[in-house]
Amino acid sequence: MAPDSKDMPKRYGWNTPVTAPGPDGGLMLRSIKAIIKDPLTYLTQSHADHGSIIQFPIPKPATYSIGSAVGAREVLVAQQQETSKQTLQYRNLALVTGEGLLTAETQAWRPRRRMLQPAFHREMVALTEGHVIAGLAQLDKQWQIATEAGTAIVDMDEAMMTLALEITCNALFGLDVSGEATELTSATLTALHGVVARAQNPLALPIAIPTPNNWRMSRAIHRLDEAVSEIIQAREQDRLPSDSPIRDMLDVLLDPDLEIPLTSKQIRDEIATFIVAGHETVASALTWAWDLLVRNPSELERLREEPDRAQLIFDESLRLYPPAWVITRRISADLEVEGIEIPAKSLVIVSPWVIHRNAEVWDEPLAFRPERFKNGVPQLGYLPFGAGPRLCIGREMARLEGAMILRHIATNWTLSAIHNERTPIEASVTLRPVGGLPLRISRVAN
Ligand code: HEM
Repeated sequence: MAPDSKDMPKRYGWNTPVTAPGPDGGLMLRSIKAIIKDPLTYLTQSHADHGSIIQFPIPKPATYSIGSAVGAREVLVAQQQETSKQTLQYRNLALVTGEGLLTAETQAWRPRRRMLQPAFHREMVALTEGHVIAGLAQLDKQWQIATEAGTAIVDMDEAMMTLALEITCNALFGLDVSGEATELTSATLTALHGVVARAQNPLALPIAIPTPNNWRMSRAIHRLDEAVSEIIQAREQDRLPSDSPIRDMLDVLLDPDLEIPLTSKQIRDEIATFIVAGHETVASALTWAWDLLVRNPSELERLREEPDRAQLIFDESLRLYPPAWVITRRISADLEVEGIEIPAKSLVIVSPWVIHRNAEVWDEPLAFRPERFKNGVPQLGYLPFGAGPRLCIGREMARLEGAMILRHIATNWTLSAIHNERTPIEASVTLRPVGGLPLRISRVAN
């Protein structure tokens, strides 16, 4: 139902039509520092105060946030043909990933998705298992050394980043990056940090102008570019036989027999996209899963006794801490979403963070209750991987990886928090724990 006009905040002096309730402009301006520091609280509070579809007091572009399950489905699925990824967030991300699958517009995206989808077929996802096992064996070795004296404190966030990067590069590109994983994950984080800093600064200068942020970002992108070149060179020296039954992503990208072979820029952009999209998200999901588990020791104990709960725990962690906490779209034609007019050219923010904590969708939304997923993943109101045609291509790989890693570490290591305070969240491109996630570990006695 359309909101009553008396619910509309009074905003004057700009032409953008106000079609939904939303927070007050003056208050928003006065709180801008706090909002930048903690956008999750602002977003959650704004929805709690004004409803499930709100408009922010921003003159251009008109900016809406969707916090309802049905609204999300309207934007991402039912009316998705009236949306595009021409948003500031994706434009800035494209500085890092180029025009890869994640940022590409529909026309360029459709054939590319069709081309890359087979690399994510069941056998390929199953092959990931082997890489997860190898990565975990490596982690066990490192932790074994670290805990020789009994216990050790490790940064779980860093450990998950490194592990996820190694698995992604092995599974998709057949490349062992273990020697340079820390450097590459740090380059990825720096680049993504730059993306967010640019999105928060309306006066951000073009990337070619060496402001401190642009300079850091350019160096990080350069490091990613070097990694991409290494990946391509390694495969050129060591190609799989062309009749190999299993083709990984790189085989598909480098295939000279494609109807229209990819240019080297297109290949670079896809590899960079998959490095970035394929590991940081998984690592973020796992880090928050560990945070939830050490703060709910009975759940950790249960996981040790019933390792098959790992999938439920991973899915539930993705609900409470969806790494992609906002999904943005530009609207290309006037839309109506749950009775609210959203004019063409508006920016729409669909927020898994808000929707996953919406009490109309979830019973006791703030509680960590893995068994809510025991009948499978709901169709509506759960979108850690997005929805509609742009649904995450790595979804099954990520869920497999996540569950295997939780299961293995929980059954082989004891883990505990080193303090009782809540882990502060930085809402960057994904949700990051401020200061990492230091945990005390020791080997489970046999
Ligand atoms: C827990 C882990 C992951 C999460 C939470 C996640 C989340 C998402 C989300 C929300 C989208 C949709 C974005 C939108 O609609 O604007 C997406 C798209 C995408 N993801 Fe993931 N992702 C994860 C893992 C992965 C992995 C493992 C890979 C690759 C190996 C990957 C590659 C991609 C790509 C290429 C796209 C763009 C798909 C397209 O537009 O066709 N992601 N992801």
